[in-house]
Amino acid sequence: MTSPLEHAIFEQNDPGMPKEQDLEKLKDISRDILEPKNTLVDLIPRIVELKDLLEKYTLLKMTPEVSLTEGRTLLDSGMAVSPLVAAICAREVFRSAAFIKGVGAAVQDAAHNDRPVRVLYAGCGPFALLVLPLMAVFSPQQVVFTLIDIHPESLRCVRHLIDDFGFSGHVVEYVCADASRYEIPPDSIPDVIVSETMNVCLGKEPQVSIARRLLAQAPNARMVPEAVSVEVCLLDPLKEFAPIDPAQEGQFIEPVRDRIYLGKVFELDAQNIKRWADITEDSLPAASVTVPDSVLQRYQMRLLTRIVVYGKIRLDDYDSSLNLPQRLPGKPTFAGGEILQFHYKLGAYPGLDFEVVN
Ligand SMILES: C[S@@+](CC[C@H](N)C(=O)[O-])C[C@H]1O[C@@H](n2cnc3c(N)ncnc32)[C@H](O)[C@@H]1O
Repeated sequence: MTSPLEHAIFEQNDPGMPKEQDLEKLKDISRDILEPKNTLVDLIPRIVELKDLLEKYTLLKMTPEVSLTEGRTLLDSGMAVSPLVAAICAREVFRSAAFIKGVGAAVQDAAHNDRPVRVLYAGCGPFALLVLPLMAVFSPQQVVFTLIDIHPESLRCVRHLIDDFGFSGHVVEYVCADASRYEIPPDSIPDVIVSETMNVCLGKEPQVSIARRLLAQAPNARMVPEAVSVEVCLLDPLKEFAPIDPAQEGQFIEPVRDRIYLGKVFELDAQNIKRWADITEDSLPAASVTVPDSVLQRYQMRLLTRIVVYGKIRLDDYDSSLNLPQRLPGKPTFAGGEILQFHYKLGAYPGLDFEVVN
């Protein structure tokens, strides 16, 4: 039986290159992404090529009439986005470059002489985007993967892609399960845990529950992302979003920011996950911040999400949709002097919340 990829080669209406050339192209893109010297900015065109390649060969229907919400699942740990939304994540070029680079670095750091590095990828989506480039560069003797997704359609698509690119030897298992409840088999404790099941400010999606569940079973694993934090600040939106002078268009301009940082209120990392191990309630502790006594009218309060993907690879303000400054829940206004005590709500609608305690 000819695979859909082979059909794509022979069908007149498919402008794609022959399979061998596309496989070589994937290897070339992957080497470039993993090359430490290449910055995230350098990699923008390569990520676009990677996305084009995956979209060319996917079985997933990616046409405008498919609704973005069709096929999403509300779990008791948050919303699992639809296969189409998961595929579209590849278009977030900075995010995708940072995470692929991060997983590559984590795998290299976890290398063993006597067995392949084991990677557990929770929420692989239809492309297994964050690890597919590693399959093109490393052999199954160097690294193997367990791929988990809650959506059978994503697993069907990812298996097809991996088979067609000839990477099936890299996959230990495809698991259709809720990663926030997954029990890791004792003989395949991972060296690296990868999951990008998050939204800005760690809201809505189940990243926190998944990371807690998996790291508890593999406490020595390297996590990608290593840390996700949320900080509160006051910013002047007129400075922050000042229009660019047309004369400077196309040039790099150091952003002008007028901000007052009030403090980090929450961080998802290995240390905190270990600290929260005994918490069975539906809320995790977070810090408090004090609103300055006199806040000038021009300032508004925002939550900033910062991601340490792995080591020095980071995603900061405006690097991706995950890093866009957000208003506080309820869009409150403050007179000044209030103490805001935050906590992280678990459950189907996870996210940070706060109460005024003075
Ligand atoms: C934001 S998408 C990211 C897709 C891909 N990992 C990437 O980074 O491009 C999240 C993926 O995780 C899956 N997912 C979300 N929550 C999950 C859970 N609790 N268990 C298993 N899969 C989950 C969704 O179905 C979706 O495919």
